[in-house]
Order: sequence, then structure tokens, then C-alpha cells
Amino acid sequence: MPLVSMRQLLDEAAKGGYGVGAFNVNDMEQIQAIMAAAKETNSPVIIQASRGARSFAQDRFLFHLILAAAELYPEIPIAMHQDHGNSFETCKSAIDLGYTSVMMDGSLKEDGKTPASFEENVAVTKRVVDFAHERGVTVEGEIGVLGGVEDGHGAGGTGLEHVTDPDQAVEFAEKTGVDALAIAIGTSHGAYKFTKKPDGSVLKMDVLIAIHKRLPNTHLVMHGSSSVPKDLQDIINKYGGKLKETWGVPVEEIQLGIRNGVRKVNVDTDNRLAMTGAIRKVLWETPEKFDPRDYLKPAREAMQKVVAQRMTQFGQAGHAGDYKAVSIAEIAKGYKNGSLSTRPLVAAK
Ligand code: 13P
Repeated sequence: MPLVSMRQLLDEAAKGGYGVGAFNVNDMEQIQAIMAAAKETNSPVIIQASRGARSFAQDRFLFHLILAAAELYPEIPIAMHQDHGNSFETCKSAIDLGYTSVMMDGSLKEDGKTPASFEENVAVTKRVVDFAHERGVTVEGEIGVLGGVEDGHGAGGTGLEHVTDPDQAVEFAEKTGVDALAIAIGTSHGAYKFTKKPDGSVLKMDVLIAIHKRLPNTHLVMHGSSSVPKDLQDIINKYGGKLKETWGVPVEEIQLGIRNGVRKVNVDTDNRLAMTGAIRKVLWETPEKFDPRDYLKPAREAMQKVVAQRMTQFGQAGHAGDYKAVSIAEIAKGYKNGSLSTRPLVAAK
């Protein structure tokens, strides 16, 4: 199957009432792990690359690895997504390369650190939406500011400093016409999200539910959704690592989000933890080994296990064969003739 539009993938997820994991990649082994998990669970999938990943792997290397995935797994719908684009130019470069979806994170200024004003966010996001939709490419925007830092991008903090205001979310969706909306409800990127076991009140799920009620047709996105499992932390620390005790987002909270309009769930840290733990174990137990395949293969398998588990928990498992890819050119026509409306349905308060 060719790469599919993320809009199509999320529209189908909304119909089926499930969420789709968006997994970050930097290299071949991570792409292979995701695809093996997608095949194992028969799942559609979103593969995403941050600016950091694109520069680490080199744009064309990374993009062609994804094309190889699409070629080798024709039965799996794959959307290729730019994670946290910091400017119109970053999003344009991804679209020019062939990404089928971009995130314009206008919640921060172009430095990727300083919170932007609402007006600045609307202006840059709308510019990306106009350019992207003409080409059939999906756009995710962000309103409110997430916590933490990922690949050098982020305002830091706990994620509770700039929680999304539901009224602003409605105005933002109306003014920009984004397909998907990332909201800040207390999640943050990275391993150090919470300093004690979350008790179900740490995330502002009431805010998420309020936004979904007002914007029932806008696909909501949960960033910072790694659960940071204790067993993965323990493996790293057992084999010489030095992670401090930490807690991530409980899967049940994500599932509550999915029941309330969350269609895209971003996960990176859990996969990093799984791979690093597997690599540490091999190097610790067999220090005489030096063939990278001896530790990359277990690392890939460890990541596959986490991804397959998340695909099942998010509900996307079993849905790969539900639909055929609509070409990006057809999607572009849909935006133009209004059949893929960019005006969100706004419900009364
Ligand atoms: P985690 O750090 O929780 O995996 O979040 C990743 C993410 O949101 C990527 O945009």
C-alpha cells in the first residue's frame, strides 16, 4: 500500500472508536520493529520523525526506509508524519519530500522553546494548512503548551503551566482548519513525567472531555503518552543504567482519552527505554561481543514487543484491512471540493 493520508487513517479510527499509536523513529531498526508489530497485530500505523530524527538519519535515508516499509508491508496502512514542525519551512520540506502528514507546533515560537501568542500560532498553522491541504497532506496543530523537552524541542516544565483552554481550542480549530489537534492536559515529553505514582487526577481529563464535547469531529492528539513501565526502567538500572525513579501516563488514562476523541497517541520514550535496556543487557552479560547485530536484534525485538502491546491497548489492532488507501491526490480534491471539511463541527457548551 502506498503511504496513506493521516486524515484518512484517523477518520477510520474515529469510525471504529479506537486510537492509533504514532511512534517516533530515527533509524532502520525502529522502523522494522514498528512494522513487525503492525504485522503481528494487523494494525494501521503512524510513523513519525522529529526534526532531530530527520537530521540524525539524514532526510532521504529516513524517508526511503519508510518507503521500504510501505513496499514490504502492502497490507498495512502507514502514515508518515513530521512530529513537532517548528516553522512553515520545516513542514514544507517534509511535504516536499513526501510525508503524508505534518505537525505545525505553533504553540512555540520557531526556536522550539518559547511559548508563542495565540495569534502567532493561528497565523503560522493556517499558512501550513493552506499549503498542505492543497497537496492532500494532513495537518496537526497544537494549542496549549506541552511539558518537557524532546529532541531539543519543548518549553520544559511539567505540562500543567499552559493547559489548553477549551474555548481557545474551538477558536483555533475554526480559524486554522486543522485535521488533528494536540492539546495540553498535563502530559510532558520524556521519561520524567511524574514524581509519584499517578492517581487518576494528575491529567486534566476533564479538559480533554470538554474539548471533545465542543469539537466532536476534530481528532484529538495526546503527546507525551509513554507509560514509562517500571520493568523497562528496572532492566536499564540492573545492567548499569542510572535512571531515577519516575512514572509515566497510565494506559487506562489513554484509553479514557480514546473513548473521548483521542485518535493519535504519541509514544517515543517507552521504545527508547526498551531498546536501551536490551542493548545494556547484552553488553553487560557478554562484554566480549562486538557485532552490532548481537545487541540490535534484541533491541529491535524489545521495541516490537512494546509497540505491539500499545497497538492492542489503543485498539488499532485488527484494523489494518478495514479500508483501502485513498490516494493523496484524491484527498487533495476532497479538501478542495469540501467533502473533507476543514471547518470543524462546533457543539454548544
Ligand atoms: P513520550 O516522550 O511520552 O514518548 O512522548 C513522545 C511524543 O509525544 C512525541 O511527540
